[in-house]
Amino acid sequence: MIQNSIAKSFALKSTSSTSLKCSINTIRTLATAAGDPSQTPPPRQYGDLKDSDRIFQNIYSNYGADLKSAMKMGDWYKTKEIILKGDAWIIDNMKRSGLRGRGGAGFPSGLKWSFMNPPGWEKNVGPRYLVVNADEGEPGTCKDREIMRKDPHKLIEGCLLAGRGMNANAAYIYIRGEFYNEACALQNAINEAYKAGFIGKNACGSGYDFDVYVHRGMGAYVCGEETALIESLEGKAGKPRLKPPFPAGVGLFGRPSTVANVETVAVAPTILRRGPEWFESFGRPRNSGIKLYGISGHVNNPCVVEEEMSIPLKYLLEKHCGGIKGGWDNLLGIIPGGSSVPILPKHVCEDVLMDYDALKDVGSGLGTAAVIVMNKQTDVVRAIQRLSAFYKHESCGQCTPCREGTTWLDKMMRRFVNGQGSEREIDMIWELSKEIEGHTICALGDAAAWPVQGLIRQFKPEMIAKFKKFEENIGSSVSYGGWEPGSDVRNGKVVGSHVPHEH
Ligand SMILES: Cc1cc2nc3c(=O)[nH]c(=O)nc-3n(C[C@H](O)[C@H](O)[C@H](O)COP(=O)(O)O)c2cc1C
Ligand code: SF4
Repeated sequence: MIQNSIAKSFALKSTSSTSLKCSINTIRTLATAAGDPSQTPPPRQYGDLKDSDRIFQNIYSNYGADLKSAMKMGDWYKTKEIILKGDAWIIDNMKRSGLRGRGGAGFPSGLKWSFMNPPGWEKNVGPRYLVVNADEGEPGTCKDREIMRKDPHKLIEGCLLAGRGMNANAAYIYIRGEFYNEACALQNAINEAYKAGFIGKNACGSGYDFDVYVHRGMGAYVCGEETALIESLEGKAGKPRLKPPFPAGVGLFGRPSTVANVETVAVAPTILRRGPEWFESFGRPRNSGIKLYGISGHVNNPCVVEEEMSIPLKYLLEKHCGGIKGGWDNLLGIIPGGSSVPILPKHVCEDVLMDYDALKDVGSGLGTAAVIVMNKQTDVVRAIQRLSAFYKHESCGQCTPCREGTTWLDKMMRRFVNGQGSEREIDMIWELSKEIEGHTICALGDAAAWPVQGLIRQFKPEMIAKFKKFEENIGSSVSYGGWEPGSDVRNGKVVGSHVPHEH
């Protein structure tokens, strides 16, 4: 039944493809209609994704994660035909879909995958790899886990099709060590796919050979950075490499490789079946598609939900999360894309759209679309300090600005939590963050700098209020959390700050 309804809507069937194209063109014509203002349609509302348009049909565990259930949901349907269309067709369709990498940076996926096939690539004889990034270590991010737990066959089929597009011989799925259950679910699905002849020698009867392996990491956040991940897969310490060379030139085991996020790979089969126009019809131009959003923090119903790109943030929270704890007016701020993107204050959250461009325009980012909500009961300085502690702990230590800078950010932020600081020090920590940003091998340095910058940009008065309160209470018997008198000298006075180290 489900299989039938999905089959009907696949773009591989020419009739449905034509009607789909027509309706998209109609939408476009309406959207760009000019002239008589009374004829101008209202601006398009994003974010009313229909159930029939969901890619991850099993995100709420309505079915099993096994092969039979996956096939009922439409996975592995006409996979052979897609493989036989060849690498150029796959890459072209991925480009036309407008899919941008779901691992955080948002680089156009079709273009990135095409770097594996430069002119004359065939002459570089030897293995080539797709590496799937299932490390998911960014605080707040919890979407890939759901795919691997509940929809593992989407990822495995995605590995085969993305791998075919890149002319790769094998996929390595590098999964965060703590995701034990997810690794088991994946391995079970891989075993089933091998048994059914969908992967391995002559995958799906297409004549193409393709293997899939799962590799469990050890839970270091930096191993999610693509070159650190490759190092770790090779059995070395997970420390990012300098680029160039880029992985598409010299990657895993020195061979051409591409690292792609779980969600990016898992959506590929549905895009290729239903057609790039279908995927591209969602969201604003340059920000197209459907996306998993993971919402945590002070909402009534934290969840992972699939929605259209460009959905307004407020609508997303009200539609799927039952709103903010204490009501919308009790909202303090939101980190919209995982811990490394800057926080947004309430007034910006009122009408910002959840896409790459809209969030960039307001000084933040879509990142991994991990929405962390904080209501007015949050100590926002403490919340950002906790992130500074995380980045300090996770720095691999190769670059001085990151190693030293994250340590200093953490030290200063710990003092600020207690109110020990001055306006001048806000300028100093800002400058420090700017010395880290853009001066390191990998983007962990930026990720450490941006939350602090966001705090200063949006919540400077709150920081100053904390300092004032501390000044007023200095010398009184008030307790300030972890603060203990000791060593620091401020304004010529010993005020002390020993805060126990937090891991
Ligand atoms: C410190 C750090 C951690 C990262 N962690 C992850 C991660 O857990 N998962 C992920 O997909 N990408 C992560 N990335 C981004 C990857 O380097 C890479 O851009 C991504 O996997 C590419 O996939 P995409 O093109 O599908 O987005 C991280 C980057 C940095 C700098
Ligand atoms: S930025 Fe930090 S984590 Fe990245 S390579 Fe440099 S020291 Fe390591």
